[in-house]
Amino acid sequence: MIVCGVESTAHTFGVGIIKDKTILANQKASFSTEKGGIIPMEAAKHHEANWRSVFDAALKEAKLKPEDISLVAYSRGPGMGPCLRVGLKAAEYIAKKAGLKETVGVNHSIAHLSVGSLISDAKDPVFLYVSGANTQVIALEGGKYRIFGETLDMGCGNFIDSFARLLGLGFPGGPKVDELARKGKNFIELPYSVKGMDVSFSGLFTHLKQKIEKNEVDKEDLAFSVQETVFSMVTEVAERAMAHTNKDHLVLGGGVCCNSRLQDMAQKMCEQRGAKCIIPERPLLLDNGTMIAWQGFLERKNSSKELLLRPYERTDEVRVNWI
Ligand code: ATP
Ligand code: FE2
Repeated sequence: MIVCGVESTAHTFGVGIIKDKTILANQKASFSTEKGGIIPMEAAKHHEANWRSVFDAALKEAKLKPEDISLVAYSRGPGMGPCLRVGLKAAEYIAKKAGLKETVGVNHSIAHLSVGSLISDAKDPVFLYVSGANTQVIALEGGKYRIFGETLDMGCGNFIDSFARLLGLGFPGGPKVDELARKGKNFIELPYSVKGMDVSFSGLFTHLKQKIEKNEVDKEDLAFSVQETVFSMVTEVAERAMAHTNKDHLVLGGGVCCNSRLQDMAQKMCEQRGAKCIIPERPLLLDNGTMIAWQGFLERKNSSKELLLRPYERTDEVRVNWI
């Protein structure tokens, strides 16, 4: 079965094509800025301008014709309305070209988790999902992905992107802060906010804003200290969830998990517990069409003639009927 997945929830328009567990193509175009953050209408315009060429590039990479596609999957949410609508339009177009009457809409966050099972045989893991809008520690329980802990305010990626903006860096800020942090040498004590299995970033953000406005610290040391602080927080809650659920696999998901310092911390924590840490490659951690194709394959029985969007659908609302 050849599955084509379309991703469009936020900054990235992506098309992935898989045949069983083999990735045949993973193409994308991502919206970025030199200065300032992401604006939904601008990102949607970017997707509108790029979706056809991304799809064509994916077909070319996979060496396929549209008629070879046997299932089309798309992100139905959560995400930004204008961006999601471009994805829906692309999915409709691809299905028509492929001669298919049905498509399957999948939850973007769940696709970030499931991609771990595309690249490994992880059984019943704890997931640490750290992306732009989300920061959650999750495990399967009672047929749903139960959220054991999450951010009480902003997502870790959005926090890092906003911090980068304070430093005058553009979007996405994660890779730029990552680069700065490598040059930092001195650790500056910062507010550390973990409550049970939840974390929070807004207090830290206000603190950083004041520090930067007063121009009292070195940017490299600050980036280094921010990473040390927030990645310790998310690793701590992941460990607590593993201890609580007695699970011995951890799967990382979401773009922030591209960060090598976070990967180090998660790996060390797992080693110390005798657990296995599974980390997808960067192109599968960031938003991509391949994870949507894989989630579509898993949910192929849920395909339907109706195209629908669910911009606010939460991870724990979806009934997991494919495992
Ligand atoms: P969600 O999945 O919650 O809807 P999203 O789709 O916007 O959010 P992803 O594409 O999974 O998020 O991840 C994007 C985020 O990853 C951005 O906030 C970006 O700054 C961050 N990021 C990318 N690379 C790195 C890195 N090396 N270090 C830290 N953060 C990074
Ligand atoms: Fe995402």
